[in-house]
Amino acid sequence: MEFKELIEKRRSIRSFEENVTVTEEDVRKIIYAAQQAPSWKNSETGRYYIAVSQEMIEKLRTECLAEYNRNNTKNAAAIIVTAYVSNRSGFERDGSATNERGNEWGAYDLGLQNMNLIMAARDIGFDTLIMGLRDSAKLHELFGIPEEQHVMSVIAVGKRAAEPEKPVRKNFEDIVKMF
Ligand SMILES: Cc1cc2nc3c(=O)[nH]c(=O)nc-3n(C[C@H](O)[C@H](O)[C@H](O)COP(=O)(O)O)c2cc1C
Repeated sequence: MEFKELIEKRRSIRSFEENVTVTEEDVRKIIYAAQQAPSWKNSETGRYYIAVSQEMIEKLRTECLAEYNRNNTKNAAAIIVTAYVSNRSGFERDGSATNERGNEWGAYDLGLQNMNLIMAARDIGFDTLIMGLRDSAKLHELFGIPEEQHVMSVIAVGKRAAEPEKPVRKNFEDIVKMF
């Protein structure tokens, strides 16, 4: 798909088609794309825990998602927990933060990877929903995620059951100052 078209057609999807499956090959394609994103000193601190079996998808939905997201992820074909290894991106070898942003750089890197991930998913015919309303403690427990990894978003993957409206965006003048 053309890059411009990808950008326009990607949407957050809150109603997924039934009986869609995501294969390991699909997962490998989207994680490969995620890994091609830039990262602080190429540290690649993004980590992914992916529920593909119905049992794990249901456990994740019922135990770890806010009700709103649980209701909107029925029929998700896979759900990806995204995390980053803390105290590495944005940090020196001696463990001190390189600047005032500290672990925000790890979150920044993960966001870049996540964007590649959702665009690659769209490119091979899937849709996604990034979710910040989730219970990270329960996700750590369910997937055995080490404490030093910070859980950020959970991303549902499936196929859109309906065409959503494009939410409005701010004007150029509202977000840019040119000098
Ligand atoms: C960090 C982050 C957290 C989000 N959390 C949720 C969420 O918990 N539930 C939800 O339905 N949408 C969530 N969204 C999706 C946004 O609401 C959505 O991206 C925004 O409304 C713009 O719509 P679009 O993605 O279709 O362009 C989240 C998006 C981001 C980037």
